[in-house]
Amino acid sequence: MDRIRIVGGARLNGTIPISGAKNAALPLMIASLLTDETLTLANLPRLADVAQLKRILGNHGVDMTVAGKRLGEAELSGETVHLTARTIVDTTAPYELVSAMRASFWVIGPLVAREGFAKVSLPGGCAIGTRPVDLFLEALQALGAEIDIEGGYVIARAPDGLKGAHVTFPKVSVGATHVTLMAATLAKGETIIENAAREPEVVDLAECLIKMGAKITGAGTSTIRIEGVTRLNGARHSVMPDRIEAGTYAMAVTMTGGDVLLEGARADDLKRPIEILREVGAEITETNEGLRVYRNGADLKPVNISTEPFPGFPTDLQAQLMALVTRAEGTSVIRETIFENRFMHVQELARFGAEIHLDGQNATVVGVPRLKGAPVMATDLRASVSLVIAGLVAEGETIVNRVYHLDRGFERLEDKLSRCGATIERISG
Ligand code: EPU
Repeated sequence: MDRIRIVGGARLNGTIPISGAKNAALPLMIASLLTDETLTLANLPRLADVAQLKRILGNHGVDMTVAGKRLGEAELSGETVHLTARTIVDTTAPYELVSAMRASFWVIGPLVAREGFAKVSLPGGCAIGTRPVDLFLEALQALGAEIDIEGGYVIARAPDGLKGAHVTFPKVSVGATHVTLMAATLAKGETIIENAAREPEVVDLAECLIKMGAKITGAGTSTIRIEGVTRLNGARHSVMPDRIEAGTYAMAVTMTGGDVLLEGARADDLKRPIEILREVGAEITETNEGLRVYRNGADLKPVNISTEPFPGFPTDLQAQLMALVTRAEGTSVIRETIFENRFMHVQELARFGAEIHLDGQNATVVGVPRLKGAPVMATDLRASVSLVIAGLVAEGETIVNRVYHLDRGFERLEDKLSRCGATIERISG
């Protein structure tokens, strides 16, 4: 199993190109199931989760071809992939494939909307909490699907097609919003989604669906309206930049000090994290090419935040912020309100000498003057990268084990950081 070795202490200076967003790429790829024409997605990140979803879609009958490099294209820009679901040959998403990645459950929406039938394995629990699927099932039922759960599979039937409905979510869910949005594009009549997720990835999906011929208004607000159409067509869409990757590198630069351009990052997707990073001590400016993050040697300041659905502070940046404020001058309080068990990084950060106290949803971080390198490991993607951030300033050597978590969501992380001056390398095997 690969490991990452870091020797802390270097400031980061240079440019980091931001890849296409994992959490936009996944629903966009799944949207290819809605049409028998070709959906071309540009700027797809080269990530393990994207590769896994290719396998799942292939099993449903989606043909995929990868476009070759084009003139003028940057050496390491994202992939352009043509996805064509001419015929859905298999409406089952098996346990072996779905259990590896929760978002693959989302195929249930397009499959039942287009084929009137879907059998999809329950995703089960995962390292960051129980993450149930009740909201998905209630929404599909509201759209007229009959739902049964048998032998660990959800079976959704709508032999006469889905029907538009008024869906009010009791809680904001990104995945349930994606699925309801996709399913409603092919339902008869109007669907209104209330308390919809407002995340930029929902907007990206809606924009792509509109190019495919869907009639959608309100994406990015809490109320989305969809007027169903009988069929969708092919389209071309470029995946939005990854706001979580950008936010992560912004925290890394704030931690080490230095001056880095996050090429392609969009300030509008990161308003709250930018506010918080300025409080901590970073200078952040928006330029034509992206976001510039700068910090000289000044002390880091503590913060008090809660994770919230967009536009609040994202849970996907909580671990990274926690790593950052382990070095603040004073005590920070970080409250996790989205997932009940997303603090696995706490005990690993303690190996660096961080002082963190957990009490239910709250982590109290008492800043310490220095961190010391250590062997560490984490059980989810964002937790893993928080350990990299700590390692970048820790004295001596840090070894981050179980790097496959990082490969799920960060493209060429060690390459991007070492080009900015970090001492970081992958050790294979
Ligand atoms: N929830 C329910 N019932 C449901 C669905 C969700 O109770 O039927 C709960 C969840 O348990 C959680 C809350 O609702 O407490 C919010 O979960 P949500 O459905 O919004 O999360 P998700 O769609 O499964 C996506 C991202 C996550 C990100 C969350 C929150 C993707 C592929 N995943 O997950 O990203 O943390 O939204 O923003 O888009 C990551 O990239 O590392 C990651 C975990």
